[in-house]
Amino acid sequence: MRWLLPLALLAAGAARAQDPGERDFQRCISCHSVADPLEEGLPGPGLRGVFGRRAASQQGFAYSEPLRRSGLVWDRTTLDRFLADPEALVPGTLMGLPPLRDAALRQRIIDYLARQG
Ligand code: HEC
Repeated sequence: MRWLLPLALLAAGAARAQDPGERDFQRCISCHSVADPLEEGLPGPGLRGVFGRRAASQQGFAYSEPLRRSGLVWDRTTLDRFLADPEALVPGTLMGLPPLRDAALRQRIIDYLARQG
């Protein structure tokens, strides 16, 4: 039975590599990090632990006035609306991401973010 553990590890590794949310998140990594500690010097705030967090609350990041005043808390609904059209939910936001029209894609990214801390 000694082969069981390596096999389980292999399966876990494969599952991680195939995480569709992680793959979809690649379109965000030019601006955002989910690393721990956060990667510095990116144009967007860190998204580790963003789930359940008040909008514009990462210490030290220079958010736009509209996002700081938005009063939003990031959950499934608000994240979905933001990714579907950042400018529509928060007019004047600095996040220059074109609307993500694919609802399934948004869900995969949101699920992925929910798993990051
Ligand atoms: C071109 C750079 C860029 C890309 C690409 C980008 N973002 Fe952003 N994002 C930003 C900036 C800048 C802000 C801060 C907006 C503000 O202050 O108005 C932001 C803010 C956010 C916030 C709010 C964070 C907080 O602390 O309140 C979330 C959530 C977010 N982005 C998710 C995403 C996701 C998911 C993707 C990929 C689908 C993505 N972003 C792609 C630049 C980007």
